[in-house]
Amino acid sequence: MSILIKNGRIVTATDDYVADIFIDGETISAIGKNLPMQADRTIYATGKLVFPGGIDPHVHLDMPFMGTFSSDTHETGTRAALHGGTTTVIDFVLQKQGHSLKEALADWNSRARGTTVGDYSFHMAVTDFNENTKAEIREMVEEEGITSFKTFMAYKGALMIDDSQMIGLMQEVKKQGGMVTVHATNGDVIDYLVAKHRSEGKLSPLYHYLSQPEVTEAEASGRFADMADYTGCPGYIVHLTCEGALNAVRNATRRNQKVFVETCIQYLILDASLYENEAEGAKWVMSPPLREKKDQQTLWAGINQGLVQVVATDHCPFMWEQKLMGKDDFSKIPNGHPAIENRMELLYSEGVHKGRITLNKYVEVACTNPAKIFGMFPRKGAIAVGSDADIVIFDPEERHMLSAGTHHMNVDYSGYEGMELTGKVKTVLLRGTVAIDDNTCLVDKGYGQFIKRNKVSGKI
Ligand code: URP
Ligand code: ZN
Ligand code: ZN
Repeated sequence: MSILIKNGRIVTATDDYVADIFIDGETISAIGKNLPMQADRTIYATGKLVFPGGIDPHVHLDMPFMGTFSSDTHETGTRAALHGGTTTVIDFVLQKQGHSLKEALADWNSRARGTTVGDYSFHMAVTDFNENTKAEIREMVEEEGITSFKTFMAYKGALMIDDSQMIGLMQEVKKQGGMVTVHATNGDVIDYLVAKHRSEGKLSPLYHYLSQPEVTEAEASGRFADMADYTGCPGYIVHLTCEGALNAVRNATRRNQKVFVETCIQYLILDASLYENEAEGAKWVMSPPLREKKDQQTLWAGINQGLVQVVATDHCPFMWEQKLMGKDDFSKIPNGHPAIENRMELLYSEGVHKGRITLNKYVEVACTNPAKIFGMFPRKGAIAVGSDADIVIFDPEERHMLSAGTHHMNVDYSGYEGMELTGKVKTVLLRGTVAIDDNTCLVDKGYGQFIKRNKVSGKI
């Protein structure tokens, strides 16, 4: 099957020009003005933006967490992602403490293989680093193509590792050519504040926010950067939210250290005032919590300064009934919020349309940098000859409204209900097949492929 995309405005992380794209099979085979090829199908893209499929490197699909499971499966989550212009996601496999990485991978494979609609890869979350785990790192990198290892400095007793485990993991991961990523918040301080608020009868969602002050993230981010510097291991901080944490990374750059930083779309757009809504605040209970307006400004600036390289989602949806597990106690609200479908359109509307970032920066942080940082470039994240034909055709003018009534995520509320956006995904190609056309998904469960990733250098 061949497809010709005619006369679109092609935008990459570096370029912006009008041309045609010819796709033969799964990959792009030519780009140029007025290409002479005849194709099985022609898509006319005059007036539309044409950019690489989005990559969301932080999603939690069908994940056991806080006594329940995140409500999007690999099928529903990747389908919703495609609707929103995200063609590849990286999901997290969670090692169970006392068990091996291989067992965890087998568990995730049993749910993801053959069920995803869009392409996907895995990070391996190491929650129990010991001699047995250490021996498995090489196999994950060399055999499985899993080159990033997630750590948690919080969620003690379930996911958290201590600093001695962190150093040991970093040394091994560096040796094997991988990267350590981190949920960087100080778990002990947070646990102290949660217990204190509960003992004082302060149980509303606002106290979730007040139990994770900025200092808990700033301290852990600095500690992580120091350990990465000491070991020489490539490091990546997930879901960074605030000025204090970004300043810790800025400090690391003064010794010429590169620590990659991801923020998530919600931290750029929403703020902590939402927790004052006692009845509905649980919708935005996530960790780290939403922050202040001044932090949003810091994050937008961080993107433009090149300190923040990725905008992801940390998509971890729960039905409202699941959120109600914590109706009498904020510490029992499953942490997470849905955004896998909304990221590309929200970032375009709030970022490009409102003049906060350029179009090239948009593609860089939403598509290209995740591919480069996580060892998928130039197969993914690029519009180039030989790259996978993962392509979004986008109307930069169309206005629309976000709502749980129209989204495709398996969750019965939206954290952005009623929000009006400018710019809409119209057509999405995944590996040369039209996957989304005008709000309709045209590929089936099982079309998505597992993407084995390359070793990483810690530089882009
Ligand atoms: O609230 C969140 N972020 N839930 C998902 C787990 C995590 O910490 O990323
Ligand atoms: Zn996290
Ligand atoms: Zn997460």
